[in-house]
Order: sequence, then structure tokens, then C-alpha cells
Amino acid sequence: MAISDFDLVLFGGTGDLAMRKLLPALYARDRARDLMPSARIICIGRDNKSNEDFLQIVEKNSKPHVSSATLDADVWQRFCGRIQYVSLNAKEPATYQNLVAAMRDDPAISRVFYLATPPTLFSMICDNLSQAGLATANARVVLEKPLGHDLESAKDINKQVGRYFNESQIFRIDHYLGKEAVQNLLALRFGNVLFEPLWRREWISDVQITIAEELGVGGRFDYYDTSGALRDMLQNHLLQLLCIVAMEPPVSNSADSVRDEKLKVLRSLKRFTPSTLAMNVVRGQYRAGHVNGVAVPGYRKEEDANPDSRTETFVAVKAEIDTWRWAGVPFYLRTGKRMADSLAEIVVRFKSVPHSIFAHNSRSTPNCLVIRLQPDEGLHMNLMAKTPGDGMRLKPVELELDFREKFKTPRMEAYERLLLDVLRGQLTLFMRSDELEAAWEWVEPILEHWDQEESDPIPYSAGTWGPAAASALIGRDGLQWREEA
Ligand code: BG6
Repeated sequence: MAISDFDLVLFGGTGDLAMRKLLPALYARDRARDLMPSARIICIGRDNKSNEDFLQIVEKNSKPHVSSATLDADVWQRFCGRIQYVSLNAKEPATYQNLVAAMRDDPAISRVFYLATPPTLFSMICDNLSQAGLATANARVVLEKPLGHDLESAKDINKQVGRYFNESQIFRIDHYLGKEAVQNLLALRFGNVLFEPLWRREWISDVQITIAEELGVGGRFDYYDTSGALRDMLQNHLLQLLCIVAMEPPVSNSADSVRDEKLKVLRSLKRFTPSTLAMNVVRGQYRAGHVNGVAVPGYRKEEDANPDSRTETFVAVKAEIDTWRWAGVPFYLRTGKRMADSLAEIVVRFKSVPHSIFAHNSRSTPNCLVIRLQPDEGLHMNLMAKTPGDGMRLKPVELELDFREKFKTPRMEAYERLLLDVLRGQLTLFMRSDELEAAWEWVEPILEHWDQEESDPIPYSAGTWGPAAASALIGRDGLQWREEA
């Protein structure tokens, strides 16, 4: 679908996300000729500065995040020509007139307000946009995470933003949904006849979803310490991946068909009670250690850290989905900072063969499908095969599909895809208000329990796979995390 002309307004236009992700993503789409020549990007900041000064900041802070292979001086110049800096204080209604003056007043031109700001400003910005006459029918608003701090604040955001924009104008971003491999999971499940009949409790024994990062939180302590792994990663990215794995086949790829099915998964997640929490949720916090051979400090010793912080940097959860399809199939979710490796993957383990005719000389390994999101996007499938030669000896072998090798076409970053969808008005990859609330509703008992608990998160050494309790959580079911097997 073609993209019509637009004015894209970046609140938080001088911030980290704009510089590292959003502007480079827009540059990439400009280079691919997806943007009309007249389309414009308006970056908002509080300080008074000239456009020239702002463009120097873009040159210094954003250009290095554009891959050098795609950097082209003419395209960069054309791209910079679209950028206009506008000074505005989100809290001061009068300053919105600067934005009114900068924007084109034409109902045929889409207006996109991208709020890459703390969520506490969402309501105020929408209110002020409305008062300035900018919340028009041709406007869309993009909400960047964190989308609230708990259920109540998420509901409040939905309510406040909903006063000025209707649901079809609101794009709640979870950048994991824009990743190529997540799209591929949809293709795998619903573009093939092979998997769907097996995609259920009769054939699948368990599912593991891991997002592990080697990075710590250095430089982001203030934000991270009020958030922690549960709010930063599990409530959104991990639950969204779980939804895509577990949802029923949607009727179509339309926004509401997909979101209806994801919502059903979230609502079917078994609620934790204080007594089930202890056995099914583990939280950890990294201590000093070595990552890739380099000594790194513990969380409480990071720059500007609170030395008594009880914020978790690791969380592992055993989740269950109470539906006919998934009853009894554990979904193990895990994420952490300063882990042994950086990777994101979904591991679907199938059941063992019901009876092995080769039992006397080969141990059967269950089939396992690994959907790799990061660092390399691909699919791996373990099958049993006969080893060549005399006798009937079986051995697990891997079928591999490396998307980068298979498709030589350039990759699209998650933010590129999501920004294009916003500009096209395509909502499938964005969260609906009820989805957001259902996800918060499920994590809320965990947050409450931790608030009341006296104990600290369990320490783990940087550069490991997290606390031993996380291995015990899955070990109680006779299983192991894939990386520890
Ligand atoms: C963000 C979190 O949403 O996702 C970060 O706030 C995290 O803490 C990041 O590092 C991970 O994203 P990706 O795409 O690098 O895996």
C-alpha cells in the first residue's frame, strides 16, 4: 500500500530513541524511496535552537547509527532536508503554537504524533494537541513503551489518550512485533499445513521463550531501576511472542482478527496466586562478573546506581494457558541483562515418540523447533536420522534455515516496518487497548507479591544464565533450558 504525504512529529525528537532508532529507520525508508518528496519530519525539543544546530546534532548522534553500507551523501542530504526542529515545552499549551505554525493544514496530509516520551506526558501532550486544534481526523498517535507502570496507569493512559483519538488512530508500539522473525513465525504457522495439526498439547511438550542480553543497564539506571525486567521485557515483548506462538489461527491478517486472538491468549493465562508464585516465578539481579572475558560491575555498582536497589534484572516464569489447545503445556519465559550470551529465541519441544522400535541401540531425542530471532534470524529443526553405515543407529540432526542466506534482499529493521505501518494506518502489529490491559492484569499479582516480599532478588554473576533457581524452576518438570542442556 502506498504511503501518502505526511507530517511526522517526534516528541522526544532529541532523545536517544529518536537518534538511535527512529531517524535511522526513516532514513532507510527514504533511501528505499518509500517517502514522498514532500513528506516531513518535525523533531520536538524543549531548547531553543536553530534547525542548523539541530541538524548538527543529528549528524553527530544519529548518522553513526545508519549502517555505513547504506549511507549515501545525496540521500542523507535529501533526508536532512525533511527535518525541521521545533521548540516546544510539552507542559506549556502556548508553545504548541510553534507546532501549529510548522505543520501543514491539509486533511489529505496525514499527521503522525510519535510520543517517544515518558508515559506520564502522554495525556498532557494529547490534551494540548487537541486544544491547539491538531488532534484532527487525519491524525495518528504512536505511543512508545513503557505503556504504564501497572494496570491502573495503563488504564489511565488508554482512557486519557482515548479522549482525543479513537482506537483506529492509536498505535501502541512493541518493537518485537516488527521483527522479521516474528513475522516469519506467522508465515510458518499459517502459511504451511505442516505445523498447525501438531501445534497443540497432544504433540508439544513445552515451549521456551528467551530474550537474553549481554548488555547491562549502564547509563540507563534511572529508567531501568523504576522498571525492572518484568515491566521492561516480560509484560510486553515476551508476552507478545507468547501470543503469536499460542494464538488460534486468526480469520485473516487484519488488525482486529489478529488482536482478538492475541487477547484470548492473554485472558487464558493462568493467574498466579501467592502460593503458586513462589514455585513459578524467579527474579534475579546481576552481580559483578565477566561478559565475553571482560570484567563488568554488578547492578548495584553501575553508574549512578542505588546501592540498595531491589530491582530485578532477570526474571523467569512458568506460564500456563488454560485452553483446550494448551492445557498442561508449560510455557517457560525468561529474560535478563548481563547474561552469558545475547540471543532471542522460541523453542518448541515436541513429545517423544510413543514407542521406539530402535530402543535397543539409540536414545530417541524429541523433535525440537527453534525459531531464532536474534542475533541471526532462522529456523532450526531437530530430527532423528540414521547414521550412515552398518546397523540401525539413530542420531539427532539439524535442519537449518538461515533467512539471511536464503533471502539476499536487504533486511528491514523493526522500527522501519512499524513506522511504515503507522504511515499506512495498518494496525495489525500494534497492541490494542484491551490487549495492553490484559497483559498488565496478568503480571500485576507478581508485582504486588514482590512489593510485599521482604527478600531481595536472587543474585547471579554477570555472564551466566541467571540464578540457579531459574534452572530449578524448569528442572522440577524434568527439563532444562536449551542453552544449559
Ligand atoms: C527495550 C528494552 O524495549 O528492548 C531494553 O527497554 C532492551 O531494555 C531492548 O535492551 C531489547 O531490544 P532488542 O531489539 O535489542 O532485543
